[in-house]
Amino acid sequence: MSSHAPVKRMTVADIAARKGGEPIVCLTAYDAPTAAILDEHCDVILVGDSVGMVVHGLPSTVGVTVDMMILHAKAVMRTSQRALVVVDMPFGSYEEGPEQAFRNAARILAETGAQAIKIESGRYAADTVRFLVDRGVPVMGHIGLRPQAVNVNGGFRAKGRTLEERQEILAEARETVEAGAFAIVVEGVAEDLAREITMDVHAPTIGIGASPACDGQVLVTQDMLGLFDWTPKFVKRYASLRSAMDEAIRQYASEVRSRTFPEPAQVYRLDPGKNAPAKSSA
Ligand code: KIV
Repeated sequence: MSSHAPVKRMTVADIAARKGGEPIVCLTAYDAPTAAILDEHCDVILVGDSVGMVVHGLPSTVGVTVDMMILHAKAVMRTSQRALVVVDMPFGSYEEGPEQAFRNAARILAETGAQAIKIESGRYAADTVRFLVDRGVPVMGHIGLRPQAVNVNGGFRAKGRTLEERQEILAEARETVEAGAFAIVVEGVAEDLAREITMDVHAPTIGIGASPACDGQVLVTQDMLGLFDWTPKFVKRYASLRSAMDEAIRQYASEVRSRTFPEPAQVYRLDPGKNAPAKSSA
């Protein structure tokens, strides 16, 4: 029997209880090694549909499917033990109505073992959020800039610039939380609106491009690690992995071409002892 107590995973109740308290730390992961590194540091790991752009090279998140989300979420679940894992419902998997949403959400939770889903919760989604929560599916909402609406909005522009848009976003937040969401991602809004939303709703707000006024923060991990040439204004780069990878790969290519890799340390040698001729018993 192992003497180690099993690591207890964060629950949606733990996250909901952080309203106004210790800030919630969230990053995205789509694969096992990244999840293993994040797990110790993050309260929430989001398997975001940003996987479509970050990993699969799609121009937006619109082409992401439920099968893709399940594949990536399974990998994240295998190597994380502590963080709450939340999986995005991709475009087209919940907008038809509550029954479609429940079918896909139930599949995601059952097949991956993740504990919650996230949906981009415009005002059309309140009934769906309620339907899911009433039937045992914990929901994280996502308001403000909603990347899945890129084709309606004509791009990924910050939201809440007009009074009408501000009221709409505040209503999205209220309706999502009143419908039972345990937390909401607030994306791409000005600080005063983020503060107003955070003070208004009883669920924690997790900001991305939404100022420190929120109850927590989320970033796309590859953005904050500097894996791309360009990062949005709201991203702080904590590392420059792209240039580090570029340099390492340049060196590898050069050493292969000059036959200086592999070096002796990376080469298997026959063990002479094992290859000595067997002694004769005569
Ligand atoms: O898909 C994603 O990564 C997200 C975050 C940007 C919040 O929804």
